[in-house]
Amino acid sequence: MTAATEFDDEILSLALARVTEAAALACRPLIGRGDEKAADQAAVNAMRRELGRLDIAGTVVIGEGERDEAPMLYIGEEVGTGRGPAVDIALDPLEGTTITAKAMPNALTVISAAPRGTMLHAPDVYMDKLAIGPGYAQDVVGLDMGPAERVAALARAKGCAPSEITVCVLERPRHQEMIAELRAAGAAIHLIGDGDVAGVMHCADPETTGIDMYMGTGGAPEGVLAAGALKALGGQIWGRLLFRNDDEKGRAEKAGISDFGRIYALGDMVRADVVFAATGVTQGSILAGLRPCGAFVETETLLLRSKTGERRRTTCRHPLT
Ligand code: FBP
Repeated sequence: MTAATEFDDEILSLALARVTEAAALACRPLIGRGDEKAADQAAVNAMRRELGRLDIAGTVVIGEGERDEAPMLYIGEEVGTGRGPAVDIALDPLEGTTITAKAMPNALTVISAAPRGTMLHAPDVYMDKLAIGPGYAQDVVGLDMGPAERVAALARAKGCAPSEITVCVLERPRHQEMIAELRAAGAAIHLIGDGDVAGVMHCADPETTGIDMYMGTGGAPEGVLAAGALKALGGQIWGRLLFRNDDEKGRAEKAGISDFGRIYALGDMVRADVVFAATGVTQGSILAGLRPCGAFVETETLLLRSKTGERRRTTCRHPLT
């Protein structure tokens, strides 16, 4: 393998900042405008354009959907100039389309890259997710435990009472029973309206975010993106795909999945070192949102490299054109 085709995570990480920044900037006129689709499309167009400038032979493994339903950044689409290393790309050009349309907190543009063939090709189905932060023994909690058991196990491991555990959960009718069980177990619940990549990432820094654990059902693609972030930030995540019908099972089969009940741990979702980039769109607890500053718009971007554990926060003032 020549130097030009090696997975140079350091260079790629910096290059990905431009990709997520461009996607975030493209969303700016659409924040609070009530049009999720337009915001998503603007992010997709910008992300695709910037990806096209990168010297990578990228393949989208987590994208906007299957080829027949997503005209751009579909699963299997080749991105980049084709002149660099072969990489898997997981992306969500706008994680939080509804929160962008409603100008609510924590919308992000997100991308992650890893050497070709090392990321789980998760179909666009739901995933039952569970995540905790760093510093715990392996498998201290698990998807096979009930919500109350998870709270008790994590409290024991943290050396605190269950009442000192805070769990982040997507506010959805399907989570009502789980929320009731968590409350009965004594845990506090931090409800989010959308955006479970950020939801999971909160667990990596409980002292700042106040969140110890994430659980519940959300998108499987977002699960793989969150696993990439936690690989760099520290922490554990587990996911089990959930299928509502045969069509969804068919999507999984197309992605090479045959064991429908499998629990994927972090290392099954991302099997090599990854780079991860996210830029804030709306103000959030992980990243600042787009901020007008006179003749500029300021972005904040988080760049993570799992190989070194490096976490870089960059702000950039982009001239308004
Ligand atoms: P979008 O930005 O694609 O709308 O996704 C937002 C999100 O909240 C994800 O973070 C989460 O995984 C998923 O939607 C949950 O799906 P649902 O809204 O169907 O419960």
